Amino acid sequence: MTEKKLAAVTGGSRGIGFQICRDLAKEGFEVILTARNTKKGLDAAEKLKDEGLDLKFCQLDILDSDSIENFYQTMVNDFGKLDVLINNAAILLEPINSGLSADLQEIKDTIKTNVYGAVVLCQKIIPLMIKNNYGRIVNLSSGLGQLKDMGSGYFAYRLSKTALNAATKIFAAETSGYDIQINCVDPGWVKTDMGGSGASLTPEEGADTSVWLSSRPKGEPSGKFYKNRKIIDW
Ligand SMILES: NC(=O)c1ccc[n+]([C@@H]2O[C@H](COP(=O)([O-])OP(=O)(O)OC[C@H]3O[C@@H](n4cnc5c(N)ncnc54)[C@H](OP(=O)(O)O)[C@@H]3O)[C@@H](O)[C@H]2O)c1
Repeated sequence: MTEKKLAAVTGGSRGIGFQICRDLAKEGFEVILTARNTKKGLDAAEKLKDEGLDLKFCQLDILDSDSIENFYQTMVNDFGKLDVLINNAAILLEPINSGLSADLQEIKDTIKTNVYGAVVLCQKIIPLMIKNNYGRIVNLSSGLGQLKDMGSGYFAYRLSKTALNAATKIFAAETSGYDIQINCVDPGWVKTDMGGSGASLTPEEGADTSVWLSSRPKGEPSGKFYKNRKIIDW
């Protein structure tokens, strides 16, 4: 029997992350649903188990170095690997903030979660992927971080997603030569707590490209920005 690929998703308690966990489990991955809040994470994992899906829970707050270390040690000691990492967890504090008046603390807090959280996790996990010569990392970005269409408002959030895009390209360049693919996804405008009920896409639609990128074969692109399974401009 072929060994199952092991995938971990940050912010799996709700929204797109929860749906990605569900879809990866349906596709046959061994899924680690992670969440910063243990009760919320266990409840979410239980809900998917009730649907007949097989998955595990691990507490992970991407702002807490002890939590990251514990997550890393669990992957190393229990599995000796992590094949797929979905950096999904993020915050959007104040949608309407303008570049001219955005509060500096709010900018720092947003960048701390949306950029440093994912970056620290990548720095921890990529060496393990290099050791195993296999890895797929999907960083949930946003059209709001796309330089090509950069507009006004959402200052802190836009800045954070543009920086995440840059980090993605750098990590991809630094892992070329290995069977490792590190890409960004714009999931579109999705009905979640963050996207709101007026959004145009279901969580299933929002999760699709991230799930698809999780199992691309060797030789497929790394360091790219995807939407609807297609490469888009930065
Ligand atoms: N929805 C959209 O329209 C849209 C559009 C473009 C991009 N995106 C991106 O897609 C991703 C998922 O968005 P979403 O709409 O599903 O958001 P969401 O409903 O607000 O869910 C965000 C998730 O991130 C978790 N989280 C926040 N801070 C965390 C931390 N420090 N450690 C661990 N988990 C943390 C939350 O956990 P708690 O439950 O504990 O709060 C929650 O599970 C994000 O990266 C977002 O920027 C979304």
